[in-house]
Amino acid sequence: MDVKVNGTGYVVDADPDAPAVTVLRDGVGLTGTKLVCGAGVCGACTVQVDGTPMVSCLLPAAALCGREVTTVEGLSGSHPVQRAFAAHDALQCGYCTPGFVVEGAAFVDRWRAEHGDVAPSRAEIARALSGHLCRCGAYASIHTAIAAACTGAHDTEDVRPARVEAMEKITGRARYTTDVRLPGRLEGVIVRSSSPHALIRSVKAAGDTAFVDLLPADRIVRYIGQPIAAVAGRTRAEASAAASQVLVEYEELPPVLDAEAAQRPGAPLVYSTKAERKAAPSSGEGAPSLPTSWNGNVRGPSSLGWRGRTAARRVEEAKQRNDSRLVTATFSTPVQVHTALEPHSCVAHWQPDGSLDLYVSTQAVGAVAESAAEHWGLRPEQVHVVAEHVGGGFGAKTALTAEAIVAGELAKQADAPVRVVLDRSEELTVTGYRPGTRTEVSLLADENGDMAALTMDVHGDGGVAIGSMVAGLGRLVYGTGPRRLRDFDVLTNQSPGAPFRGPGGPPMAWALERSIDEMAVRLGEDPIALRRRWDGNKKRHALYDWAAALPAWTQRPAAGAQTGRFRRGIGVAAANWMYFVDGNTEVELVVDGGVVLARTTVQDMGTGIRSVIHGILRQDLGLPDDRVRVEIGRSGPRHGPTSGGSRTTPSVAPATRDAARLLRQALGVAAGSVADRLGSADGTRVVGKRKRDRRGYVTPFAMDNLSVGRGFSGAVHVTEVEVDTRLGKIRATRVWGGIAAGHIYDDRLARSQCEGSIIQGVGFALYEQRHVDPATGIVLTDNLEDYRIPGIGDTPEIEVHFHHDGWDHVTGGGVGIGELATLGVAASVGNAVRNATGWSPQDLPIRPDVLLEGIRS
Ligand code: FES
Repeated sequence: MDVKVNGTGYVVDADPDAPAVTVLRDGVGLTGTKLVCGAGVCGACTVQVDGTPMVSCLLPAAALCGREVTTVEGLSGSHPVQRAFAAHDALQCGYCTPGFVVEGAAFVDRWRAEHGDVAPSRAEIARALSGHLCRCGAYASIHTAIAAACTGAHDTEDVRPARVEAMEKITGRARYTTDVRLPGRLEGVIVRSSSPHALIRSVKAAGDTAFVDLLPADRIVRYIGQPIAAVAGRTRAEASAAASQVLVEYEELPPVLDAEAAQRPGAPLVYSTKAERKAAPSSGEGAPSLPTSWNGNVRGPSSLGWRGRTAARRVEEAKQRNDSRLVTATFSTPVQVHTALEPHSCVAHWQPDGSLDLYVSTQAVGAVAESAAEHWGLRPEQVHVVAEHVGGGFGAKTALTAEAIVAGELAKQADAPVRVVLDRSEELTVTGYRPGTRTEVSLLADENGDMAALTMDVHGDGGVAIGSMVAGLGRLVYGTGPRRLRDFDVLTNQSPGAPFRGPGGPPMAWALERSIDEMAVRLGEDPIALRRRWDGNKKRHALYDWAAALPAWTQRPAAGAQTGRFRRGIGVAAANWMYFVDGNTEVELVVDGGVVLARTTVQDMGTGIRSVIHGILRQDLGLPDDRVRVEIGRSGPRHGPTSGGSRTTPSVAPATRDAARLLRQALGVAAGSVADRLGSADGTRVVGKRKRDRRGYVTPFAMDNLSVGRGFSGAVHVTEVEVDTRLGKIRATRVWGGIAAGHIYDDRLARSQCEGSIIQGVGFALYEQRHVDPATGIVLTDNLEDYRIPGIGDTPEIEVHFHHDGWDHVTGGGVGIGELATLGVAASVGNAVRNATGWSPQDLPIRPDVLLEGIRS
């Protein structure tokens, strides 16, 4: 087949019915165009065909013949939209970026031809880009970039990109795991269980394809989609055909498909022996689950309360006397799926010397290298993990997972590189999720309006995984009043949950912060004033003062006082988070050809750590941009952190600063730029370390290199919503996010992180919900049309405020923000809906049907 792409003709051996995107990526080798949803929903595969943007996943390859195709590579980095994306940091992980850029370029050209150099409205930009999704939530900056490009502001001048790899990402040059092309590479496909609960009697592959058995020792599958085996083929189609030939003999066992059924007396057991329970996966963030009891499919309670009996007694007595200062309610949150746009993927390649190269889309190059060495019985230096760019993770990519094990095993058998890339259905069904929750809360105030008691019972639904920690987080907020906090896991035959940005935090904030608002109503007190009074944290006091002074807050409508179809509401919620750090982090600097080269074992999944390292070295060594190079995304001798628990920047940045100090010493330059000394310093090498905090850490020793630092970060979110009381629609129109996390290493990138966190919080509040067929256990929302994440039109205007004080004891002066900035968002949306309508939502997401029913009642 002849195709002309970016002005060059190619002859490609391809099935004319194959999706055009695979021909462009695998046939032509232009991997800037990304394949994400495969259903025309997300726009990541957008190319211009004769100047018109089209999604190439729905376009048959034959439709490209005789047409002029332009991919992101064809825009060559000089289109005003590309410059604008770089200047305004309209990207994070960058996996969606090529699609946005290709569509944006066509829109800007058309807009300027029709309207001249004027900025379109937010609504016009949202309409033009409504066919694109960005899971990182870079929408606010995308708005800014498109508007600026339309005015001609980026026609000529070259700008300094806000992040160092921006040009690679906006030109399609950035290489992700899914883009790795090795000669002779095979494709691997995983055969998955079609039964929610069964004993597998036998598994047989047809033919002599490379084949891996993935069943656990007991040969029992416990959820639909559990890996059973894997096969390889020359192409994905060939591998899929081989997978369909694998014969699996099931002996069906009775399943439990939802949390309610799992708790009924006599329900079938997901785990029936002590050993099985011990081997259960965890949905928690690394820490081992607290030992506790089991009762059938219910595990728990795990309790982290404080004077729990007193709290329970006070609540009971208040119930008996019908105390109006007792707030009791049951709240629920849905399963929320990570769905990073780059799917879980791995390319494995065994070298002749027995070492293993693993290209993995991961948040943990170091930890994955260690696990891989252990799994295959190799020495640490025999495993090389590479994740040059990572298309998002959000907590689902912190370990050696099935796709990497499969790729490694198949590659060994086939004696050839093997790539395994999960499709969107797999991504949305078996790679983890934030467990759903059901929370019973009782919150009591005494006659002075002080907190007298808090009880929270949370049942977490993490499928076959344990480790729900939601109620326990209630230990950390609002002083030391008595509280009984109990977490339970309800086991079902569903795929395992996994840590998701601020594990447990958003469900806890949803229940507690909604209850605090109800208490404010009962006490007749301003909701911010009540929180300030109950909350002893000085950092959050500063945020409450900032929030209380916002004009939107001072002018907010009285709760439920509005009439008419459209009603505006303002809500607030507070949150805090732990400060995590990897105290063993090192950064190595080497002078190489007049350039300072920085290395550590860390990865950048869109958080911007590459740019933070670059910025610190530029500043501390007085160097221009091109005299600093950062090489990360590889396992190596210099230990670095997993990107989880918001620990990356607080671990890496101080080690970078220490390395810069040591390099100055080594070069003998006390002040000013070191540039003049670099030419004669080739080979100079120093290693900076992340120095211990002044007051040490809460945890006496690091577990898996993770320490809990002293102090809690703080957030206060204020959200404005517009409620359409006829159609039941809620729009978050403006969000103010106050963040107290100390020193901010890169203001622009930190704001971008917070904006993305806020957008994910809006998604949790209003749109995201996994649905499972109750009769079969099949996940129904296994595509991006049915699993709804926020688009650009759902993006509120966002203002982020940083409070810097209170972290002098921390080396570097700053802690993490990525989780903190999402925790209270959904609760602030709920409280804003309460303010607008007088109706008190208890279940997330606040769907139109639920809202209409609520306000009618
Ligand atoms: Fe859009 Fe990551 S930057 S998905």
